[in-house]
Amino acid sequence: MDKQAVIDQLNECLKHEWTGVAQYSQAGFIVEGMWREVYADKFLSDAKESFGHAKLVGDKIAALGGVPSVLRNEVKQSRDIREVLQFSLDFESKAVEMYTHALELADDNRALVVFLEDILKEEQEGVDEYTKLLRETPATQADQVSSKKIS
Ligand SMILES: [Fe+2]
Repeated sequence: MDKQAVIDQLNECLKHEWTGVAQYSQAGFIVEGMWREVYADKFLSDAKESFGHAKLVGDKIAALGGVPSVLRNEVKQSRDIREVLQFSLDFESKAVEMYTHALELADDNRALVVFLEDILKEEQEGVDEYTKLLRETPATQADQVSSKKIS
């Protein structure tokens, strides 16, 4: 295993997790109207998941002798809930890619492979969840439901 290559890739993962902390937190803060009831807690919970992963990855980078990054990438922002859900799916898909690449670099270190697989599994669950949410949203949008008067 090329330790420096692993540390570098884990730092890319860490920057992505810091991005998730900010992006999901803001999405939770600003969601308004009826969607607030549906999504505010979910976005804040996803921010906490990103922080949880950041903690795991930051500790691992330090254990390997590296310096955990304090940087993050660009945060995607929108007040359009469907756009926020798409940003979230994109975010989770990128996380799957990044941890998959870290796994390739860790190939002969079984403990590190297991560590990364646990996180990767949760990132894939995020992809699955946002894929399903985006599939469901059009049918549940209030503005697409025709109202009928009761006579
Ligand atoms: Fe994550």
